[in-house]
Amino acid sequence: MKATAVAPANIAFIKYWGRTDAALRLPANASISMNLSASITTTTVEFSDALSQDTIELLEPGGFSEKEIRRVVRQLDVVRNKARTRVFARVATKNTFPKSTGAASSASGFAALTVAAASALGLSLSEKELTILARVGSGSACRSIPDGFVKWEGGDSASSFAHSLYPASYWDIRDVLAIVGSTGKDVSSTAGHDSVRTSPYFLRRLDAVAGRITRIEQALKDKNFQMLGTVIEEDCLDMHHVMQTQVPPLLYWSDATRMLMDAVRNWRTNGIPVYFTIDAGPNVHLICEGKDEDRVLDAIKAVSGVENVILNKPAGGARISTKHLF
Ligand code: PMV
Repeated sequence: MKATAVAPANIAFIKYWGRTDAALRLPANASISMNLSASITTTTVEFSDALSQDTIELLEPGGFSEKEIRRVVRQLDVVRNKARTRVFARVATKNTFPKSTGAASSASGFAALTVAAASALGLSLSEKELTILARVGSGSACRSIPDGFVKWEGGDSASSFAHSLYPASYWDIRDVLAIVGSTGKDVSSTAGHDSVRTSPYFLRRLDAVAGRITRIEQALKDKNFQMLGTVIEEDCLDMHHVMQTQVPPLLYWSDATRMLMDAVRNWRTNGIPVYFTIDAGPNVHLICEGKDEDRVLDAIKAVSGVENVILNKPAGGARISTKHLF
């Protein structure tokens, strides 16, 4: 009744922003991402008749908030319902990256939790079924289960699942994550998804995303980095345009974010092929090829306001581990 799973965070090349069903976390559009090697969550889950309630522990300073614990318990319920059991669980989890960096800990967290809980309850589920279960916990978590470069399909409860387009070894891409701020988010991404339709640009975004999905798939197929990076930046700016025009507006960028966006454009002019993308926070993901990693790492040193740099390569998806946390 005990199992441990390890899962990576992921960075979206085409973003998931807005849903057609909040409870089932059905996305308004398909998205495409890459799993991140240096941003990993490990979670151990043990179900036991001896327990009279769920105990949830984050093994890092600060631990989980009450709200986060409730969300973990709700996801345990999703897996328990699937297994038709009500037995309580002990959960322990730890990240290789500080939660406060906002480096997508909900994606790796809910992927690891779902895979560990399903295994601990003896459910034998396909990868597709696991991604559907993880999606209910946190939308982007479904993309952390398959290998490498991943597509999450839109659709209904049964058809909105994630699958691998290419394994991690397919293309030597880097996500050099520049941490520029550790302040808590004013508005969570969950609340942001809920008010997305208040932006007059949301429907226009949905029209444009379909074409971008086709272009990203073509760029991946051809290993055309310039095309990949161009579409990544375009979709990031489009999502933030929607965020900034929602009511209330979501303004995630800081001065350091803007400085890095300008720097990236200058670096490109000076011959370094690097592109940026940004999620629901101020930190900037610098996307380049492995051959340009050193030049990008060097260039970042000249930008003020960068507190930390996390170097990610493409990673495999969630997996079961024998190294339990308790
Ligand atoms: O899975 P959520 O609710 O944290 O939404 C994630 C949304 C973005 O990170 C902004 C984009 C994405 O596709 O990862």
